Amino acid sequence: MEEQIKQLAEDCSGEIAAATSENELYAVKVRYLGKSGLISELMKGMRNLTPEERPIMGKIVNEVRSKLEERFSVRGKELHDKELEAKLASEKIDITINKKTAVGKLHPLNAVRKRLVDFFVSMGFDVMDGPEVETDYYNFEALNVPKDHPARDMQDTFFIDDGILLRSQTSASQVRYMEKVKPPIKMISPGRVFRNDDDATHSPVFHQLEGLVVDKGITMCDLKGILDLFAKHFFGEETNVRFRPSYFPFTEPSVEVDVSCSICHGKGCKICKGTGWIEILGAGIVNRKVLRECGIDPDEYTGFAFGFGIDRIANIIHSIPHIKLLYENDVRFLKQF
Ligand code: PHE
Repeated sequence: MEEQIKQLAEDCSGEIAAATSENELYAVKVRYLGKSGLISELMKGMRNLTPEERPIMGKIVNEVRSKLEERFSVRGKELHDKELEAKLASEKIDITINKKTAVGKLHPLNAVRKRLVDFFVSMGFDVMDGPEVETDYYNFEALNVPKDHPARDMQDTFFIDDGILLRSQTSASQVRYMEKVKPPIKMISPGRVFRNDDDATHSPVFHQLEGLVVDKGITMCDLKGILDLFAKHFFGEETNVRFRPSYFPFTEPSVEVDVSCSICHGKGCKICKGTGWIEILGAGIVNRKVLRECGIDPDEYTGFAFGFGIDRIANIIHSIPHIKLLYENDVRFLKQF
């Protein structure tokens, strides 16, 4: 019997060494050391031994068992490491490969729009966008531009159907806002607008940001204060703002607003066309008729409104000479910002 157990131990050691995977090794272990494995089978022969021989044989079997256990565990670790290594090698990812992929960033127009919205939100303005396909009522009539009024010529409009158009100004959203919210009102309406205009500084699609404040006792001074802060924030601390009389049907009085040229500081250059000033927006005190149309009593409340092109502000900030550059999406151009 001793011979047999030694032979078994030898065979088992050979098979342990020959196993090439953890699974294979496990199968060998079950065959030799398992509950009904070869060693247990052999132990059944103990019955035929004399009482003196039994403990000696038992000791030998136990020694063989623990030696084999030890071998299984060493070989098991070896195979485990080998398999892990092979797995890692086959799944290897070259993380340097992404090095050349360009990382995206905001389009200059979106970046400027975000900065503008953040600025007004930080001063407590609410933000609202409205539909781009608008009705004549919201885009014109409620804003004191009745049908056949010559002021309609100021905004070359794309009409879709009778009474339906592509909004030419985000003031349309301001009417919608005033219908819902009663004063005090402090809001901006940034968004896409459309006009039949096409040259270096005009595009048929562009972006506006219009502001509206309605409360008791609002005056031109409040308008000047906000626009002064706005101009200094975006064009530099030394920037001055000037108002020139103008006309808009929805404001009375109306102004055209210029900022001192941040390139030449008033001396006159190409950007300001030699005048030292750059026109940036239209504004004024909300026309009483507009307030009344929106259900706000003009004897109790007054308000100011202003509106500018986000594209124009982006062009001034980055000295971009042609508005189309913002829409062509030429990566060589966009990379500069
Ligand atoms: N909506 C005007 C435009 O598009 C701008 C403006 C807004 C003027 C508010 C005055 C007051 O030209």
